Amino acid sequence: MKKEPNVSKVNDVPLHRLYRHYSELPYSVRVLYTMTLLILGMAYLFAGIYLFHSYSGKDGNPRSLSYDDVVIAYSGSGKGSRLEGALRGSMSAMLPRDELMPLLTWVQEGSDRSTYEKEIRNTFDRRCMACHDGSNPHLPNLNGYDNVQKVTERDTGTALFTLVRVSHIHFFGIAFVFFILGTIFSHAYVRPVWFKCTIVAFPFIALTLDIGSWYFTKLYHPFAWVVIAGGGLMGLAFTFMWVVSMYQMWFSHPPSVVLQRQEGETTDVG
Ligand code: HEC
Repeated sequence: MKKEPNVSKVNDVPLHRLYRHYSELPYSVRVLYTMTLLILGMAYLFAGIYLFHSYSGKDGNPRSLSYDDVVIAYSGSGKGSRLEGALRGSMSAMLPRDELMPLLTWVQEGSDRSTYEKEIRNTFDRRCMACHDGSNPHLPNLNGYDNVQKVTERDTGTALFTLVRVSHIHFFGIAFVFFILGTIFSHAYVRPVWFKCTIVAFPFIALTLDIGSWYFTKLYHPFAWVVIAGGGLMGLAFTFMWVVSMYQMWFSHPPSVVLQRQEGETTDVG
């Protein structure tokens, strides 16, 4: 029997002996791949909705997901605490100026307990307890350091340890997703080979950049752009692999190199 060389007209790299195009896979495997792709696609969609819903409103505009949203989520709004806001705003009339300034200084300098007990507590008790002694559930209770502390917290974004927790979940989870997707995509015929390999590796690199930048955004805000770019490129790689896999599995003709190889193989597969 005449054996065709396994060489493509467009590209000189011969097919790897372990490479199988979708058209060479049994139907059961193709159905399994298709169902997996459908569920993964849906999961990605839900992840997108969730992401949008939980982050888009951070900067006060819930209609779009912006650079500011990402900065605020990871490094905080930079705004002062609720107490500081109240002291500069609606509560400023509750005490004379010479009592107000020490309070503000104390809040800005980190609101520590010992200064509170020595210098601040008196002012609170005298000027604020009439309304904030805890008896009105709609007003913050300012009775004692532990209660006051709840309104002195600054918005510093997602806590470091929360990031650690979310990081490990994302690394494990998303590595699985792209392992599955990459395995399915590996049966697609995409040339040049380096390009195909890049596509497979890409989401893992983007994931690392994305998650790494959560932390760096705390230190230097412009890293929010890397968070956005990492997430965006990951989505792009996902979409590319998803569409190419689905298309080549069911809608396109097998590439000619694959057909040539099939002709070269014996047909008595009995
Ligand atoms: C006469 C009653 C009264 C006194 C006295 C009073 N407050 Fe208030 N406070 C209120 C009311 C009513 C609100 C809710 C409406 C608002 O925020 O203006 C409030 C809200 C607050 C809030 C929450 C603001 C927010 O962001 O939700 C803080 C913090 C606060 N007060 C601090 C103080 C401090 C500190 C003092 C003492 C220097 C003080 N208040 C004295 C009535 C009082």
